[in-house]
Amino acid sequence: MKTVLVTGGAGFIGSNFVKYMLEKHPDYLIVNLDALTYAGNLENLTDIEDNPNYVFVKGDISDSDFVNQLFKDYTFDFVVNFAAESHVDRSIENPQIFVKTNIMGTQVLLAAAKNAWQTGKDDEGYPTYKENVKYLQVSTDEVYGALGKTGMFTETTPIQPNSPYSASKASADLLVRAYGNTFKFPMNITRCSNNYGPYQFPEKLIPLMISNVIDLRELPIYGDGMQVRDWLHVKDHCSGIDTVLHKGRLREVYNIGGNNEKANIHIVDLILKFVKEKLEKDNYDGIATDTSKISDALKIHVEDRLGHDRRYAIDNTKITTELGWSPSYTFEKGIEETIEWYLKNQKWVAQVESGGYQEYYEKMYSKKK
Ligand code: NAD
Ligand code: DAU
Repeated sequence: MKTVLVTGGAGFIGSNFVKYMLEKHPDYLIVNLDALTYAGNLENLTDIEDNPNYVFVKGDISDSDFVNQLFKDYTFDFVVNFAAESHVDRSIENPQIFVKTNIMGTQVLLAAAKNAWQTGKDDEGYPTYKENVKYLQVSTDEVYGALGKTGMFTETTPIQPNSPYSASKASADLLVRAYGNTFKFPMNITRCSNNYGPYQFPEKLIPLMISNVIDLRELPIYGDGMQVRDWLHVKDHCSGIDTVLHKGRLREVYNIGGNNEKANIHIVDLILKFVKEKLEKDNYDGIATDTSKISDALKIHVEDRLGHDRRYAIDNTKITTELGWSPSYTFEKGIEETIEWYLKNQKWVAQVESGGYQEYYEKMYSKKK
């Protein structure tokens, strides 16, 4: 049995990953450390909360006393760090918390893992470690900055982050790299493209647009809507991380992506079409939308995001050829399933949208018009 520390496991990707790991590795113990910020939601995990191989611990990754104690309470084989402030728009409003969580938090985890795993020193003075332990940093393609009309991000593309969010993720990513170099620390870094799928907080493009169509609210498209993102289903991201965790060569970086470039406006059009079709065909609990009002007229172009990255595209050659990973979802299948999930899980949406979210929405979008 292996014991895995998953941080940020109550968020979108982390909660999908916790479930993926419990199913794929039923003999592993999964310890989920999450601070339960606005983005962390234990409702994401109700179906596995009684699993004897799952433990939830509430805490902050930047609290070193707390994290060090956790490393005394458990003998971790793997650490997978998802915990982060993850929304670019919020980082433009308030960068400070991104520095604390994303950079300081990563440093605290690295120090605790190194301390727990170090067994001694080699002849050259480098630390030696227990066998088969690994720290995996969940980074992002945004650390590479933006692409023009052509080209793709490879693992050797220079790091040129453009937003406070991506700068904080790049800093964390580089700290992990430095631990690998200076301390020969057993680590991998993964850099994934945009994820979509169940349990994504509705501040992000796809769930926000689905919710707004259902509620017949305007669909706020930043600028001309021709920015391109490279979309990957969250379950494919989880399988990519699991592959790197078990098969990745130590101290290597792996890009994860599924060759799925789409302009934002195209995504919004797809959502409009699918939501309308589904609501016309079937009844969904708690939804009474007048489908005759679902039309292009809901789309509005609003003020662009400051410093908006124009295009992202991941070259996944390394993970596919070296580790044999490939995505299992086509975008068409994934987006339809995702829309269906949101239509069927309106209680979840209402629950996560309660509290501070309405206030956030008013604040962010009233000034963009
Ligand atoms: P999310 O915002 O949905 O979840 C983040 C989770 O981290 C939440 O559960 C939150 O409570 C927790 N958290 C925040 N601060 C914490 C702290 N100080 N201590 C402990 N827990 C804390 O984010 P997500 O979209 O699931 O992204 C997860 C990770 O994947 C992030 O590191 C993000 O940078 C990275 N990533 C995301 C995408 C994407 O498209 N969403 C793509 C590539 C990489
Ligand atoms: O590329 C990986 C990154 O993808 C992750 O590291 C981030 O954590 C994740 O949030 C995501 O970042 P983006 O900024 O690309 O995602 P977001 O959903 O915020 O926006 C996607 C695109 O849609 C982007 O070009 C901005 C645009 N957009 C977004 C919102 C919320 C709109 O046009 N309107 C909107 O209301």
